[in-house]
Amino acid sequence: MPIVSISIPEKLLENLEESLQERGFASRSEIIRQAIRDFIMERKDLKKLEGEVIATITIVYEKITKKSKMLDVQHQFGELISTFLHAHVDSSNCLEVMVVRGEAVTIQYLIDSLKSNEMIQQVKVALLGKPS
Ligand code: NI
Repeated sequence: MPIVSISIPEKLLENLEESLQERGFASRSEIIRQAIRDFIMERKDLKKLEGEVIATITIVYEKITKKSKMLDVQHQFGELISTFLHAHVDSSNCLEVMVVRGEAVTIQYLIDSLKSNEMIQQVKVALLGKPS
């Protein structure tokens, strides 16, 4: 099995260690392998989508984040985002819920842009069916 070294923020490592104990994983490697499998499965599900998609995307980021960069992404995909809600998780973290509607491939691209943004700590996607 190849060995890969990664760098992660201290706080994230602490959270990882907590999850490890709580959920009974034998090692960091095991929990990271599982997270990667989940990520790949999620991508496969998204890839299966075609045509118009409606979804909510929830993100959490630190308040000190330079908001302008975040907004760049939101402006870049402005046509997809029909509304969004801003709330405060606590004194240092903001949460936003975006309602998006558009071509599956474009939604996928937006999700990738958010997930690959190091300033965003969490991205949760809920895909919703179109009413028939
Ligand atoms: Ni805020």
